Parts: sequence; structure tokens; C-alpha cells
Amino acid sequence: MSTTFTIDTSTSRAHPTPAPMKRLTVPAIQRRKVDGTTAEPLVMLTAYTVRMAQLLDPHCDLLLVGDSLGQVVYGLPSTLPVTLDMMIAHGAAVVRGSYHAVVAVDMPFGSYEASPEHAFASAARVLAETGCAAIKMEGGAAMAPTIRFLTERGIPVMAHVGLTPQAINALGGYGARGRGDAEEAKILADAEAVAAAGAFSTVVEGVVEPLARRIAESSAIPVIGIGASAACDGQVLVAEDMLGLFERTPRFVKRFDDMAGRISDAAARYAAEVRARTFPGDEQVYAVKG
Ligand code: KIV
Repeated sequence: MSTTFTIDTSTSRAHPTPAPMKRLTVPAIQRRKVDGTTAEPLVMLTAYTVRMAQLLDPHCDLLLVGDSLGQVVYGLPSTLPVTLDMMIAHGAAVVRGSYHAVVAVDMPFGSYEASPEHAFASAARVLAETGCAAIKMEGGAAMAPTIRFLTERGIPVMAHVGLTPQAINALGGYGARGRGDAEEAKILADAEAVAAAGAFSTVVEGVVEPLARRIAESSAIPVIGIGASAACDGQVLVAEDMLGLFERTPRFVKRFDDMAGRISDAAARYAAEVRARTFPGDEQVYAVKG
């Protein structure tokens, strides 16, 4: 069922029809995994804007304001130049546009790694200024003390292990991880460490399928996969990837639409009508009221 919105011009709030479901909570997400099994897989998509949040929210358990917005929205070469202010502006928009899903906002590169105290100051700004319920941060065992510091102080943390794009300069590329015993053992240890430190869930990105499956089966917390395994407790994709907005489709992406083709087609039809002076037509111009 599609959701329609009435704008209250005095408050600029969009009121959805049908009335929104109650917003999920972080503990409710965590409780979906019982004795190592998640009966109903968690659905997560990225969202960066209010309108996309409105459209995706009724279908998702979690909306992730990913720092992938650096490339998707801003055309940056990587996620590294994304700032805390950018994440906060987009995080607040997604919270305003959503009523049901748990909204998690990515901590951008440089905003959390230096110390648990630095991470707390950044994460507190994200929660206070966006209204989101959780933050996500990349890194495994090395970030465990920070994850513990934040969770003990009331900040729910979603971890992110495997391929961690903020470490692109150290990793040397975006290829799948976990090939070879040493790398496999390190990623397994990372997943264990973030769960033991109190993360409520973890994203596992870009790892070979058997390793992702092992992590999902062994982890006590929900494991959300991207380029990982159908055995994960949930899945996440960048919404623009799954909508088919880009020419390039990485192996782990399934295109559920061809938005690039449909936008280009609509723009071509608009351009043709403007050039032919058939737009605007009588229905789109204002008559003089007599
Ligand atoms: O930034 C992002 O969008 C992400 C997801 C791809 C997991 O971290």
C-alpha cells in the first residue's frame, strides 16, 4: 500500500495516510534474534532525504543514514571527506520523514576513532541534533572499547565489520574480504568483539559467503549483511543501488527497478514538450478569475 502525505503548512510537518505504525526501538530490533535465529529477517535500506525516508519507512525495520551519501548525494570519490555536519543534516531529514523504522546514522571518518570520549561527543551531537535512535561506526576489535564506552552511556551502537570503506587506504580496494585464514580469523574476532562490547547489531559488508554465514550463526546479535549471505539476520542495500539509479551494478546489488532509465525517459519527454511548446498546457496555467 502506498503512503500519501498532507503537508501542514503552519508547521511544515508531513502527515502520512495511512496513519503511521508505532516506531520500532533498538531493543525490539535486538530481540528479533532469539537463540541465534531471526525468524523474520531485518530489512534495512539507506535513506538520506526526507522524501526517500517517507517512501521507504513503511517497508523497513531500519533506515540507515549511511556515509555512502558522500558518493551518492555529493559525488565525492570516497566516504572520507564526509563531515559530522553533513551526517547530522541528512540524519535530521530522515528522522523527520520516518515514523516506523529505527533510524541509525553513520559516524563519519575522523569523528570517533581518536578516543572513546571524542566518539561520545560526536555521537551525542548526532543523537541530540537528529533525533535518531542509534549510530553506526566502522571497525572491529580496535573499536570495542569505544563501543562499550558509548553503550554504557546510553548510545546504541550498530557495528560494521568486514569491508569497512573508511579504511579504503589501508585495504587498498573495495574487493571482498575474508579470503585466507588470517583475514577470516580477524573478521570473526572483530564480529565477536563488537558483540561482546555491547553493539546491538552489526553490519557485515563484502565478505565471502561462508564467512558471513559463520558470523551470522555464531553472533548473539543481529548480523545485517551487504555483499554477505542470505543466512544473515537481515540485509541492507544503498537504496539508489537497488532502485537502479546507477549504470554500474556491483555483484552484491540486485536492481529492483530501473530508475535511471525512467528518470531519463521522463526528462526527455519534458524537454520535447517544452521545445514543442505543448507544456505547459491549459491545465497547467492560471486562468484570470472573473
Ligand atoms: O554508508 C553506508 O551506506 C553503509 C552501508 C552500505 C552499510 O555503511
